[in-house]
Amino acid sequence: MSHYERIKQNKNNNIDRTEVMQMISKTMEEALNKQVNREFYSAYLYLAMSAYFESLTMKGFAKWMRIQAKEERMHAEKFYDYILARGGKVTLGAIEAPKAKWASPGKVFEEVYAHEQKVTGMINALVELSIKEKDHASFEMLQWFVKEQVEEEEHASAILSQVSCIGDVPGHLFYLDHHLGKRE
Ligand code: FEO
Repeated sequence: MSHYERIKQNKNNNIDRTEVMQMISKTMEEALNKQVNREFYSAYLYLAMSAYFESLTMKGFAKWMRIQAKEERMHAEKFYDYILARGGKVTLGAIEAPKAKWASPGKVFEEVYAHEQKVTGMINALVELSIKEKDHASFEMLQWFVKEQVEEEEHASAILSQVSCIGDVPGHLFYLDHHLGKRE
């Protein structure tokens, strides 16, 4: 029986759509749902960093982080949409609370860079799972994230280098704050 026939047969029953048209394995569905949560956590973390910069009246850094948080929500929704497109079930879990204070702008960017390296590891693990599951569609979708992580790490590492060179010199930090505030 085709997918269409099964859906037609069950259309008046209260059968979960995922029972008749699931096109990803439960293992992959669970792993992708976990990644939805981790991307929302990234958004939360960067929003907390933005709030930290706001508290220092470093508006440029705050804006950069706010845009980064928005990008992370977009990443989460990209996984969310993909799970649905493959007939999977979206399961949203509790989002871990990020911390609220850092010792310095440099410490924030050390954490951003380390966090992005960790996310790259998560994406790579998903790619490996898609290969193990012979899930070509997920493999192809994940390539977007593989490329995205190259950029994410590059940007975080570049700003970390700049902040590290500057140290805590207020005038130089002010200049970098102005520069980061130009992000659209
Ligand atoms: Fe969603 Fe910054 O990786």
